[in-house]
Amino acid sequence: MTTLHQPPATLAWHGGPSGYLELIDQTLLPRQCRLIQCRTADDVHEAIRSLRVRGAPAIGIAAAYGLCLAMQHAEDDEERWFAALKRAVAHLASARPTAVNLIWALRRTAAAAQRLRGQVPPTQLGEALLAEARAIEQEDRQTCLAIGQLGAGLLCDGMGVLTHCNTGRLATGGLGTALAIIYCAVQAGKQLHVYATETRPLLQGARLTAWELLHSGISVTLVCDSMAGHLMQQGRVQAVLTGADRIASNGDTANKIGTYALAVLARHHGLPFYVAAPVSTFDLSLSEGTQIPIEERSGREITHPCGVQAAPDGVQTYNPAFDVTPAALITAIVCEHGIIRPVDSQHVALVAGKAPHPRGSTVPLG
Ligand code: MRU
Repeated sequence: MTTLHQPPATLAWHGGPSGYLELIDQTLLPRQCRLIQCRTADDVHEAIRSLRVRGAPAIGIAAAYGLCLAMQHAEDDEERWFAALKRAVAHLASARPTAVNLIWALRRTAAAAQRLRGQVPPTQLGEALLAEARAIEQEDRQTCLAIGQLGAGLLCDGMGVLTHCNTGRLATGGLGTALAIIYCAVQAGKQLHVYATETRPLLQGARLTAWELLHSGISVTLVCDSMAGHLMQQGRVQAVLTGADRIASNGDTANKIGTYALAVLARHHGLPFYVAAPVSTFDLSLSEGTQIPIEERSGREITHPCGVQAAPDGVQTYNPAFDVTPAALITAIVCEHGIIRPVDSQHVALVAGKAPHPRGSTVPLG
């Protein structure tokens, strides 16, 4: 059994309802592992927007705590308190549009206060918000473990596994999603070799996945995104494993830009393409992937990698942060409820749709 070493906590709430959120500023990794404090909802909005905290489950957890911060100084009047809550949900939800975990976590946290409306004074509702945010974080830890243990069976001893972006401890409240599968397979004694794509333009693979896997003692080789086809042609890769930011009810999956190209390559080379994601990443209100909002980010991320100019002034850019992989290219999706295979509406509903969260009611965003 391989011993895995723990990196520092990705995010942590300190104190009671009047406390604050502390998180690793992931924009500084791997050069510095610096913790920053978020003491207002604006701090959390900025941290999510600028990818100081990123990865679908982690931004959901951060946003839930952001809602706690937003309501720390809200007025005592109940009507005004709930109006402020609604505004804070809308504000935090606007930080990034693609990962559905963000709005899912905000709605769930806000619903915890809604359930107590009229029963306790607004001054006590902060405790309910914090309890729900903490529950979301703790459940995510369990969810990651379940995904890891379920998915580990998909990987065989000696495999080369290609992964994209960062889907590990830095992206969740626990072990991760796709990386949890790798951690659990290695812990179960399987020898794997991970190929991490650098993940242009923001290099989550190079800066974060390589850092995280090295920290954990997992064998990892960093490659440029454009090398994936060559690796497959050379027989170095036996499976591709990624995370997800939003999965439509037919299994179409939005994930970090470049994922779709990897799925096409995997199909061409006859390799399995696996997706790992919690149920909170499924958006069953969408029938297909074309309905998923795709975040477009500043072209400066392309022209100035790591802040250094690498393209001529004035060049046009196009910088979608995510793409959609059609369900037909996905061999299986691993979630905490089980493995969805084949990936189609019927099997998504059967596995991801079962046992919805009992407290998963929603608050309209207005
Ligand atoms: O822009 P990012 O870094 O937030 O993108 C993250 C991804 O695309 C991950 O693959 C996804 O959120 C799953 S994280 C468990």
